[in-house]
Amino acid sequence: MAAIQANAVNILYLTAAICFIFSLKGLSSPESAHGGNGYGISGMIFACIAAYLCTNCTPIDFAFQLTVLTIIIGGTIGISIAQNISMTSLPQMIAGFHSLVGLAAVLIAFSVYYAPWLFEIVPPGSAAVPASSFAEMSIGAAIGAITFSGSVVAFLKLHGIYKGHRIPLSLNAFLCSSIVCLIVYFVTTKSSTVFLLLTILAFIFGAALIMPVGGADMPVVVSMLNSYSGWAASGIGFTLHNDLLIITGALVGASGAILSYIMCKGMNRSLINVIFTPEPSVASPDAATEIKPFKQGSPEDAAFILKNAASVIVVPGYGMATSQAQHALREMVDLLKKQGINVKYAIHPVAGRMPGHMNVLLAEANVPYEEVFELDEINRDFSCCDVAYVIGANDVTNPAAKKNPGSSIYGMPILDVEKAKVIMFLKRSMGTGYAGVDNELFYSQNTMMLLGDAKKTTEAVVKAI
Ligand code: TAP
Repeated sequence: MAAIQANAVNILYLTAAICFIFSLKGLSSPESAHGGNGYGISGMIFACIAAYLCTNCTPIDFAFQLTVLTIIIGGTIGISIAQNISMTSLPQMIAGFHSLVGLAAVLIAFSVYYAPWLFEIVPPGSAAVPASSFAEMSIGAAIGAITFSGSVVAFLKLHGIYKGHRIPLSLNAFLCSSIVCLIVYFVTTKSSTVFLLLTILAFIFGAALIMPVGGADMPVVVSMLNSYSGWAASGIGFTLHNDLLIITGALVGASGAILSYIMCKGMNRSLINVIFTPEPSVASPDAATEIKPFKQGSPEDAAFILKNAASVIVVPGYGMATSQAQHALREMVDLLKKQGINVKYAIHPVAGRMPGHMNVLLAEANVPYEEVFELDEINRDFSCCDVAYVIGANDVTNPAAKKNPGSSIYGMPILDVEKAKVIMFLKRSMGTGYAGVDNELFYSQNTMMLLGDAKKTTEAVVKAI
């Protein structure tokens, strides 16, 4: 009977792992994201059934009832957050959830340390925990603690509650090397004081690592913390001898690391550069200080120019998300296409406030995928396009990223909207974007500023067309 149960658990764990792999595959494109979500949910259900079978609990046991109760409470909170969260707050929600994964890793590591027999690592009452388990639980606890405090700081920064502080590199280097030394010392001494000390230092290190990271680098940090939370889970999986936790943790760890790498590439930075040579996220010195002349247009002017164009490239950014202008935009593009105008969408890898932000919004407005292009695919088309319709985007078009080595966004590849014959910027003011850097294109000869809420302006353009 026990062998059958063990086989069933293994099969369920394997099925769950396969579901998670398909889930990641599905989530990599908006077309298959729903399917990917379904695979993820199924994998989690299989994993829960397998975990239940491992425990030998029956539904009348208090432990079982407590677990079901916590799943119901946690699930209810999760559903309510998912239903109420605005698209623009998703990055901080993700950071918040990562912090919980990190905290769970720390709590499990301490539980394993104090009661290893409960996790079937040793027989009840035995003190003979293998040294490798101490290494796994200390590494898991350290990564978990870094993930927790780092994610909390990322949450506070993304939510605008905390602006950040400069932390000397030497302090971070000291904390990091102290944690490594304490892990080695803990494995040899198995001392609870050392375990506690290294975990406290890891909590401090996680916060100190994220505090100085510049605003424009926060997306990389969120994805990096995602990766950390995966490795923390994987480390605990080794301690608990749980194959599914090892596989799932590795999947999350690797996918987070790959996403961080892709985003660094998108900003032309290295991961080391982002983490160890951070910029302050306080007001940027290159923010606008003087009032310069600019050309302001009306929706009617914009409609006239758009109707007479042969090709238009739409560049959406964060402002489209806040104003929820995607439906009005789709309506405008449909009208232009009916008049034989060639319209495409250009998406910068870090446009908006989270990876894929713009793709999700455009998909919500049923914009066909074949009209949406990534930076590398479309950048050279700007030189032969009549109008660049920049709706709520700013940093991702700012030439300072190419020309001004002193700028905080220097090195980030941008969408070359300045090469279009006419640039239309839809925004509410002449203010800066996320990185706090003034955009010289606002004052350019071929730029028309359409000041106002992006949705209202686009609706007015639709009316005028
Ligand atoms: P931003 O540079 O932040 O510019 C957005 C612009 O939208 C602002 O200049 C703002 O100007 C305008 N805006 C805001 N609300 C508006 C509304 N209701 N109607 C019209 N305009 C509105 O955005 P971006 O070009 O998309 O660049 C993204 C930035 O965010 C980058 O610096 C990137 O590094 C950073 N970031 C990205 C991510 C990810 S993963 N995508 C995550 C975190 C941070 P007004 O205030 O004048 O209206």
